[in-house]
Amino acid sequence: MSAKVVVVGSANMDMVAFAPKLPAPGETVLGTRFEMACGGKGANQAVACARLGAETWFIGRVGTDAFGDILLQSFQEAGVRTDFVQRDPETPSGVALIFVDETGQNEIVVAPGANGRVSREDIDAASKVWDNAKALLVQFEIPLSTVGYAIGEASRHSAIVVVNPAPAPREPLPEEWFGLVDVWTPNEREIEGLTGIAVTDLESAESAAKALLDKGAKAVVLTLGANGSLLATHDFTRHFPAFQVQAVDATAAGDAFAAALTVKLAEGAPLEEAVIFANAAGALACTKVGAQPSMPTRDEVENFLRSQTLP
Ligand code: RIB
Repeated sequence: MSAKVVVVGSANMDMVAFAPKLPAPGETVLGTRFEMACGGKGANQAVACARLGAETWFIGRVGTDAFGDILLQSFQEAGVRTDFVQRDPETPSGVALIFVDETGQNEIVVAPGANGRVSREDIDAASKVWDNAKALLVQFEIPLSTVGYAIGEASRHSAIVVVNPAPAPREPLPEEWFGLVDVWTPNEREIEGLTGIAVTDLESAESAAKALLDKGAKAVVLTLGANGSLLATHDFTRHFPAFQVQAVDATAAGDAFAAALTVKLAEGAPLEEAVIFANAAGALACTKVGAQPSMPTRDEVENFLRSQTLP
């Protein structure tokens, strides 16, 4: 039977412009093409969890606009349960403006819209969702007070709590979170926001992960883009090199990673096995354009892993 995972977070319609290079401040760059795709860190992670085989429930908000219809349809096509997704009559659906350069790197600005109104009441309205839930996965594109409330509820129901602290928070996180969260999955910029330590190489990555452990984190899985990921706990630290793929768009690679890690942990896998599975899912997400369209299936990840020399 598949493990039950709850994702609380954002859903955005992504407007993606591709260009040879990302614009500098004040610069206009002529692009090559434009695409729209369903996105939002929370929604991407929920779609990925479902494609990776978890029974996935999403809690969040979309508007009553056409984007809201499309975002809901994308959840349903992936098999995500949307019983607790609110349609907000007062605020439009979230939108993300994304630039992608020819190496696949991106820059993103999110206009949160309805995501900014995901509330404690929305979590309370979904109180039944915790029955048999094995894990909660959250990110920071909805109000932090709601994230904290969801963490508390999940912890009270003995679910594993995974926090993808994206985008980097602009305020210090409440100290009590550290005792409740099982695994943190920041990227380089996010861990710098959390610890003040800039990640420039493996040594500084280890220092930043250690600083987060010193704040009370139980386990940190730091994603390092083309350099793979670093797992740090109070007992050991291990670097996992990235799988080599032809990257066309890194958008949502971190979402695929966080989702895959959460699904494996929800199934009872040990952390190191979950990180290898997540590295593969993150790598595969870079090989396709768009956020949700690039979230890999379970078969794709397992076939890919069979074709690789594992660390
Ligand atoms: O992580 C990628 C996502 O960030 C995009 O889908 C965009 O919507 C923003 O939320």
